[in-house]
Amino acid sequence: MEAVLCRKLGDPTTEDKSNSPIVLIKNHPIPQVDSPTAVRVRVKATSLNFANYLQIQGTYQEKPPLPFIPGSDYSGIVDAVGPNVSQFQVGDPVCSVANLGSFAQFIVVDQSHLFRVPEGCDMVGAGALPVAYGTSHVALVHRAHLSSGQVLLVLGAAGGVGLAAVQIGKVCGAIVIAVARGTDKLHFLKSMGVDHVVDLSHENVTQSIKDFLKARNLKGVDVLFDPVGGKLTKEALRLLNWGAQILVIGFASGDVPLIPANIALVKNWTVHGLYWGSYRIHRPGVLEDSVRELLSWMARGFITIHISHTYSMSEASQAFSAIKDRKAIGKVMIILDDMTSVRSKL
Ligand SMILES: NC(=O)c1ccc[n+]([C@@H]2O[C@H](COP(=O)([O-])OP(=O)(O)OC[C@H]3O[C@@H](n4cnc5c(N)ncnc54)[C@H](OP(=O)(O)O)[C@@H]3O)[C@@H](O)[C@H]2O)c1
Repeated sequence: MEAVLCRKLGDPTTEDKSNSPIVLIKNHPIPQVDSPTAVRVRVKATSLNFANYLQIQGTYQEKPPLPFIPGSDYSGIVDAVGPNVSQFQVGDPVCSVANLGSFAQFIVVDQSHLFRVPEGCDMVGAGALPVAYGTSHVALVHRAHLSSGQVLLVLGAAGGVGLAAVQIGKVCGAIVIAVARGTDKLHFLKSMGVDHVVDLSHENVTQSIKDFLKARNLKGVDVLFDPVGGKLTKEALRLLNWGAQILVIGFASGDVPLIPANIALVKNWTVHGLYWGSYRIHRPGVLEDSVRELLSWMARGFITIHISHTYSMSEASQAFSAIKDRKAIGKVMIILDDMTSVRSKL
């Protein structure tokens, strides 16, 4: 089978192909169904997450031994099942998230890790849902209990987890403020019904949000969703209400922010560190319920997964460039078959 292999650590966007850390292998062995409850999935679409990019560079918290096949969330069709598999049959549409290995034509997984994709759902979107939407849903719904009328501020709002947070915020009835960089992202966020958008490239974030809050007679931000960190977090902290909740999601800026404990005390803030992947070990039921709810929202049209870039496996390096260059609006995907029909739909 074809698979993208990471053979050394480094920047996968390098133009010098002979020196690239990732390489497309054409004859990787097809993984075998290795337990009675294992399922082999023919991968249809797999998503690029910022974490995949960090992992290939060796800067992510989880560092697999080399060589490895990167990739985490994916969708596909059940291709083979172990003798004790009761929940799935060959031909079923599924999606899931793996620790590694989805940048490949086939992946083997225990049936307990698979989710059935409901009828009518776009399979490419289903492959983009588990990590980005799962993270934002657990953060906003399970941890912060976001409720109707609360003010939600989303940083990095046009990125994978950011756009998911924006959509989930709207489903929950929150007043959503989005921060992103550039006209295209701003127009897109406005089209999603965001209540206020701030363009980082030329606006003062604090002033713009303060003006919006004043005009709407709102006191401040109740929930901060932060996948960016750095200077932007510092600015956002000035806008928080008494009793606000801070969701620490990631550090796309490369800068881990400091949240002053003395101000957290005086203002009764709650700081939630959130590592979605660790829910699979510590609270698997929360993660599973969350992904099932998201799939049902997708089937009912409450959320739509926006995919701004699609690539084939041989174009994995360009796919990572879209993430690195901050071009993505929503998700970047690798499609394993039907590239022509997918591209013509976009
Ligand atoms: N805690 C968890 O369980 C969890 C789960 C998923 C993701 N994450 C983390 O969340 C962060 C975002 O992930 P993602 O998959 O949503 O990434 P993404 O799609 O690439 O989005 C990241 C966004 O961050 C903004 N950004 C600001 N400074 C940046 C920089 N120096 N380089 C790149 N982007 C920058 C960009 O927005 P503008 O260009 O508009 O500013 C971009 O849209 C990452 O740190 C990731 O590791 C954490």
